Amino acid sequence: MRSISPSIVHWLCSNCGNPAQASVVPVGGSGGKSVTLQSCRAVLVVRVIDAASTHDLRNRVLRGGRGHDGFPEDAWPETLHLGAVDDDVIVGVATFVPRDDGWWQLRGMAVEPSRQGEGVGRAILADGDRHLRSVGASGVWANARDTALGFYERAGWVVVGDGYVLVDLPHHRVEHEL
Ligand SMILES: CC(C)(COP(=O)(O)OP(=O)(O)OC[C@H]1O[C@@H](n2cnc3c(N)ncnc32)[C@H](O)[C@@H]1OP(=O)(O)O)[C@@H](O)C(=O)NCCC(=O)NCCS
Repeated sequence: MRSISPSIVHWLCSNCGNPAQASVVPVGGSGGKSVTLQSCRAVLVVRVIDAASTHDLRNRVLRGGRGHDGFPEDAWPETLHLGAVDDDVIVGVATFVPRDDGWWQLRGMAVEPSRQGEGVGRAILADGDRHLRSVGASGVWANARDTALGFYERAGWVVVGDGYVLVDLPHHRVEHEL
């Protein structure tokens, strides 16, 4: 029997009316269709973006709108910039920079304030793991704001050592072996 792949079509989320996707699976012998509608949150896509596309969220979410010209490592060819994209709008960003011994540093983790708490940050961390594993990374670490420690811990990262102050804010190192 020939197998038929589901096709993906654009639809509206039945919960909120935002663009969503539906898997339309042809069934039966006379063109009948089974439509499984997914929540619009299910179609959030994490993808590689360029450095400049991270700047607006970094500036608004992490710099309080004071301005942000980028990190020195932004333009390194190995540096990985990920964006969570919902209907062509970037709602979360993170940057992964190669450091010593196969470890990478996560920098500039920021989610659009109106979209925080929806799993956007978790999706970015998970995709970061996938990318870094594919290049043989040993682990990833970050200077985490104390206000965000719980986020990293929920994702399986561990808090290491004593706290310190960076840009007037209390931080701890968090890390995660791959
Ligand atoms: C911190 C941040 C990146 C988290 O992203 P997010 O999309 O809001 O987080 P998620 O919705 O993916 O949350 C995943 C889990 O972490 C928890 N979590 C999220 N933010 C948290 C926080 N600040 N403190 C404790 N737990 C948190 C969520 O409750 C959720 O828990 P669950 O697994 O029980 O459901 C985002 O809130 C943000 O940009 N905050 C402001 C900037 C910032 O602090 N950046 C990090 C600098 S180190």
